[in-house]
Amino acid sequence: MHDLYDDFAKVYDECGVDDYSLSFGKGMLKYLDLIHPDESFKKNLDICCGTGTLCGFFKDNGIKTKGVDISNEMIKVAQSKYPDIEFVTCDVSKYSDDETYDFITCSDDALQHITNIDDIKKTIKNVNKLLRPNGLFILDLNNFNLISFEKSNKSLDETRRLVYQLHRENELVCYNVKYYENDELLWENNVFELDISVDELTQMLNDEGFILESCSQHFFFEKQIKKWKLVYKKTDD
Ligand SMILES: C[S@@+](CC[C@H](N)C(=O)[O-])C[C@H]1O[C@@H](n2cnc3c(N)ncnc32)[C@H](O)[C@@H]1O
Repeated sequence: MHDLYDDFAKVYDECGVDDYSLSFGKGMLKYLDLIHPDESFKKNLDICCGTGTLCGFFKDNGIKTKGVDISNEMIKVAQSKYPDIEFVTCDVSKYSDDETYDFITCSDDALQHITNIDDIKKTIKNVNKLLRPNGLFILDLNNFNLISFEKSNKSLDETRRLVYQLHRENELVCYNVKYYENDELLWENNVFELDISVDELTQMLNDEGFILESCSQHFFFEKQIKKWKLVYKKTDD
């Protein structure tokens, strides 16, 4: 499948999009230290890992990590940045392995890229199987009420730029992204996100035996207010 991220992979880190996952990671480690000081969180699976920046951050902080993403091109970038980390190309709604993880992450509204509710439910089931008892699923959701739908430009340098425009299509939000070099349009692609609420997602996770442990806009002391930052705990079953 060829999608936005196969094109976007070439410029994703250059745009600074992955910086967000670093602030997410920093906040998360503070949270784990403060809220779960006596528990071990040394093994991570990052689903929808993109170019692997969050995995790299975990590795630098002594956490064993593995990344899964559906886009082969994003995974190629991740592998070239972090040859020591295992990255797998796979749709997370179909993903399984024989390991169990202390915590599973999904950053930068990545779960909302799964636009089919049945596939989100399958993904939650997979996360449940892959987590150890009392393990955590830590993710974020875009709060589309706070996100601008105005057209925006992002210059990469003097000759290259991206233009973003969002619009709604029923319960989906479409990101149209155009990439220009010297004002020539080289590619254009759309990616869709599901405008799912925290309550709807929490209900699906409750149905699989998770409880919502934390929901915040100011993620663990970081100034990022346009996304809900969510921590779900797998309950003993
Ligand atoms: C906004 S990017 C986030 C990447 C990374 N988590 C970050 O924080 O930079 C969304 C990612 O989700 C991936 N993705 C979308 N649908 C997926 C699926 N069904 N299975 C695995 N990855 C998926 C895309 O390929 C893309 O890399």
